[in-house]
Amino acid sequence: MDFAAILDSSVEAPLQKQLYEQWRGAVLTGRFAPGARVPSTRDLARSLGVSRTTVTHAYEQLIAEGYLEAAHGSGTYVCAALPEEMLRPALPNDGRPASVGGELRFRLSRYGRELRERPGYFRSHPRGTISFTNWLPDLNHFPVALWARLVARAARHADIGSFDYDSRSLGYAPLRREIARYLAVSRAVRCEPDQVIVCNGSQQALDLCARILVDRGDSIAVEDPGYLGARQIFLSHGARLRPIPVDEDGMMTNRLRRMRPKLVYVTPSHQFPAGSSMTLARRLELLEWARGSGAVILEDDYDSEYRFDGKPSPSLQGLSAGAPVIYLGTFSKVLFPGLRLGYMVAPRGLVPVLERAKWVADRQCPILEQAVLASFLADGHLERHIRRMRVIYARRREVLEQALLEEFGDRVRILGAQAGMHLMAEFQTQLSEEDVVRRSLAEGVVVASARPYYLSPVKERRLVLGYAPVGERSLREGVRRLKRALV
Ligand SMILES: Cc1ncc(COP(=O)(O)O)c(C=O)c1O
Repeated sequence: MDFAAILDSSVEAPLQKQLYEQWRGAVLTGRFAPGARVPSTRDLARSLGVSRTTVTHAYEQLIAEGYLEAAHGSGTYVCAALPEEMLRPALPNDGRPASVGGELRFRLSRYGRELRERPGYFRSHPRGTISFTNWLPDLNHFPVALWARLVARAARHADIGSFDYDSRSLGYAPLRREIARYLAVSRAVRCEPDQVIVCNGSQQALDLCARILVDRGDSIAVEDPGYLGARQIFLSHGARLRPIPVDEDGMMTNRLRRMRPKLVYVTPSHQFPAGSSMTLARRLELLEWARGSGAVILEDDYDSEYRFDGKPSPSLQGLSAGAPVIYLGTFSKVLFPGLRLGYMVAPRGLVPVLERAKWVADRQCPILEQAVLASFLADGHLERHIRRMRVIYARRREVLEQALLEEFGDRVRILGAQAGMHLMAEFQTQLSEEDVVRRSLAEGVVVASARPYYLSPVKERRLVLGYAPVGERSLREGVRRLKRALV
């Protein structure tokens, strides 16, 4: 058998890599017979005219990857037990496997087929375009250097336990303590740390709740208009959605009376996307109804920290006294969405099953990030950051509202409470929302139609405008461009 190799010292790849790749190819294509004895490193080095170290390193790698095997004292052999299918495929000349699978056809589930048809989430726009379609924080104001210091500190102080699975999938205990404290003070949520479950964003909290509470065909009452992220989760579990209209007092809870949904999903502090804050009377009515019907309320308190004309209204959970409320919160709005940390506060009776659901879904959230966040909260940075951002967002909202009124006068109506990171506005125009969106883009401003958030037909022309990450000058310019698109 010819164990030669052509090694070229003028090419970039080191000689040992060239030897390794040529021999690997020879084993895979069957040119080297399984079980054949290969020359000693000394003999091969001599016949190839290279150093023995070069050959030894190439052999070591081939042995480590299972192409050669070393029999103690009697030499080195081509591995006899290569799997059949590894011997067959012809590899490209460079010895690297071609990417696989792209040409295959898959029989997707119904859910997979539906997802495939959906438009992608992220779209890019030409430079200079002003976007009102982000309901995200202004990351330029995030204290990145401080966060980096806390990351370094957490990494330095991490004990070996933080490299293991956590003893509970509920989340890192110091973080759960901090969340419970923060929620008690700022949101009047009543809970103990062992009712707090840290999740991969509130999106995962919704998913876990649906997994443990919803069977296919069950109904879930949702706000109309409402949050697509929640609806998509419920639909993926085979639920039927029951739309409940929303007005300036929040979800119209009297519509629930004749319904028997398993769950009610609601954003009472700041309705998404219409912006209303649910009145106390409706909150009490909803809780009373839930006590009687056995339905579980999912309270999504996603951006309640940003209330600009007074104190945020306290949570529904804090009023619940015996009504089944699961409270959901997120750090995506107050800190940054890439953190992927949110939480839920569950009634005690649901905690063990939710903990198991979290374990099955993904075991736990990463410990280091949770430790960093715990110290961010413990040192008071969260509250400080919120106070700072509240001033900035309040001002941006004011600028956006003023610009809308200046440009559109009585042809615009701004809906909802003075809160949050977006607003919904209604325009007097003959154009459809789709045309408004298309023409705005041509003018260099991206706006979102409110229509996708509605389950029932709407005649009004409404847009959802996110202002939090947009500077004041861009807000004014964006509204001028929108005006040009609408005339
Ligand atoms: C109504 C609502 N809930 C929750 C979230 C946050 O989700 P997550 O915590 O998964 O980032 C958002 C984000 O846009 C939202 O609009």
